[in-house]
Amino acid sequence: MKILAPSILSADFSNLSQQIRYVEMGGADWIHCDIMDGKFVPNITFGPIVVEAVNRITNLPIDVHLMIEDPDNYIEQFINAGADYVTVHQEEVKHLNRTMARIKELGAKAGVVINPATPISTLTEVLDFVDMILIMSVNPGFGGQKFLRNSLTKIKKLDELKKENDYNYIIEIDGGVSVDNIKTISDAGCNAFVAGSSIFGKDNVTAATVELKNIISE
Ligand code: DX5
Ligand code: ZN
Repeated sequence: MKILAPSILSADFSNLSQQIRYVEMGGADWIHCDIMDGKFVPNITFGPIVVEAVNRITNLPIDVHLMIEDPDNYIEQFINAGADYVTVHQEEVKHLNRTMARIKELGAKAGVVINPATPISTLTEVLDFVDMILIMSVNPGFGGQKFLRNSLTKIKKLDELKKENDYNYIIEIDGGVSVDNIKTISDAGCNAFVAGSSIFGKDNVTAATVELKNIISE
């Protein structure tokens, strides 16, 4: 099954519960929460308090993407707030193996994410026990950026490795996903699709969700 994970980064925060209801009505599978600290990325968003509110608004799984320094210090708080998936950046974590194990011990699914300039060879030693690999198809920090095509090569390679070795990870993409490229990304072997501006940036959020979901479900 292909998973659509709308990112609330581009949502209208003055009416978050309505915005989440709209994507639920359109068939969204997860809610993607982008956590930014103004240090790892040049933007600041929100923390566990908002994730906890999202958890009260929806029964959908919550996919937390940590774009922060020292993510180890905050993992527990986000899981307590209701995160089902916690994804940390390979570029920031010193002991990836340990961090993945800790996320799992605390009862969540463990994801690792790499920036556009980071090769997938940096993940070779964790492929057999991570629950999810997130490929950034923009430099993290902002919604509405242009999709970087080198991410397609990474997805294809990860899909091949998964098949060859019977790995279990979900392959997720984040950044610049739209109706124009989601089919190509899906065909490359991607399982989960984050979409911010191409959903919440549209006048009809539910219709935009349905449209993306239909393409990946084909
Ligand atoms: C970017 C975030 C993304 C962002 C994607 O740093 O990680 O999740 O919301 O936004 P779009 O879909 O507009 O590129
Ligand atoms: Zn994200």
